Amino acid sequence: MHPNSTYAKLSQPLESSGCLRVSVIGAGYLGTTHAIGMALLGHDVVAMDIEKEKIAQLSSCELPFFEPGLGELLRKCMELGRIRFTTSYDDAAEADIHFVCVGTPQLPGSLNADLRWVETAFIELARRVCGPAIIVGKSTVPTGTARRMAEIVRRHSADRRVGVAWNPEFLREGCAIEDTLRPNRLIFGVESPHAEKLLRAVYQPIIERGCPVVVTDYATAELAKVSANAFLAMKISFINAMAQICEATGAAVLPLTETLGYDDRIGRRFLGPGLGFGGGCLPKDLRALCACAADQGLDDVASLFRQVDAINLSRRHRALALGRELLGGTYAGKRVCVLGAAFKPNTDDIRDSPALAVGVAAYREEAYVVIHDPVAMNSAKRVHPELEYAETIVEASRDSDLIMLLTEWTEFIDMDPALLSTAVRSRNIFDGRNALTAERWHSAGWNYRA
Ligand code: UGA
Repeated sequence: MHPNSTYAKLSQPLESSGCLRVSVIGAGYLGTTHAIGMALLGHDVVAMDIEKEKIAQLSSCELPFFEPGLGELLRKCMELGRIRFTTSYDDAAEADIHFVCVGTPQLPGSLNADLRWVETAFIELARRVCGPAIIVGKSTVPTGTARRMAEIVRRHSADRRVGVAWNPEFLREGCAIEDTLRPNRLIFGVESPHAEKLLRAVYQPIIERGCPVVVTDYATAELAKVSANAFLAMKISFINAMAQICEATGAAVLPLTETLGYDDRIGRRFLGPGLGFGGGCLPKDLRALCACAADQGLDDVASLFRQVDAINLSRRHRALALGRELLGGTYAGKRVCVLGAAFKPNTDDIRDSPALAVGVAAYREEAYVVIHDPVAMNSAKRVHPELEYAETIVEASRDSDLIMLLTEWTEFIDMDPALLSTAVRSRNIFDGRNALTAERWHSAGWNYRA
């Protein structure tokens, strides 16, 4: 690792003055990153997961997912002896503060989140934890869950001193460790001064550097997370709605975005028109909030979120239609090179990936689809073995009738149109992320659509 790299700087332990014993339940994306973050803060961390294979991998310093720089930090924490991995709740129970980071996926056939893993973690910990420890929920959950977990702890714990808190996480895949160690806010949903004190102690180095802390109740802490994601989703769907208006009226969406972005009440970020959002968080949280509003009888509010979701999904149909146009009206029998499988760059996560959804839809319209992604191909192959995969951009585009750029990896943005001209059958390119410089492709003789 280069000594001046961001990760090298981040890996200089921030060192809290008091080292706490921390357990992290759930060694998925959030849990593993949080556990490493806690170890970098100087705490003594045990990360627990019921999946033996995952724990074996992590114990031998191997990450079960892709995240830039995180592997090196894991190695460093292991060398310092600050982190260990286990499959046993008994090993985790000794800690002073327990972070529950298990998944809350969308329930099949429902807008609601599946909370069974959260419940299990709270029950198993409550049965074992003693003393003035706290169990802190980090998983994204619907409002009312923390209160229910506090009741579960009261029911299953023999020790009245064990407390509950909610401390949502705002990390983004691809910049997970930066977001963990340099968050722009910390939210503590607490019901006792002791829980607040412990949370302040565990995050002390971050708080000392000026990170704002919002101390609030359980319900507000729970909503803080889903509302942030719903807002980001709304911003993306807003600009995509404007993109539709631009298309209909002949206006240009990119300069429009620029003008909006100069207004710092609006801001430029998350205002990128294109294929829309995906991943394991924004769509799920938006739908959970929609279900919450509907449950509360707030139909107008529910319909706002439903519309944001619908606009987002319609982008995939629009992308498919533009690709079809470039192909002269049909995908059948055409060779289509799909660039991107991950839901966004710098991750191998393909959950609700717009890129993959479009690739699969083209395949269903009888195109011969070849996909390339710098890191997400194995994840994609597992779920879509019916598609073809190629190791390089050139290989994927060989003899293609259409290239569809659907995830804006830097290496796709930097592609050389002249080089690809020699590989493809027809020079048609669809830029689903407004990521390419149109002029560069036009001047190399390509039909470019965005
Ligand atoms: C998101 C939030 O940004 C995090 O704050 C939150 O902690 C996380 O969910 C979570 O709930 O755990 P993430 O899903 O990693 O993080 O991805 P984002 O960077 O937010 O991107 C979400 C989607 O929006 C991607 O598909 C991306 O391509 C899309 N997007 C983003 C756009 O379509 N346009 C934009 O302008 C920006």
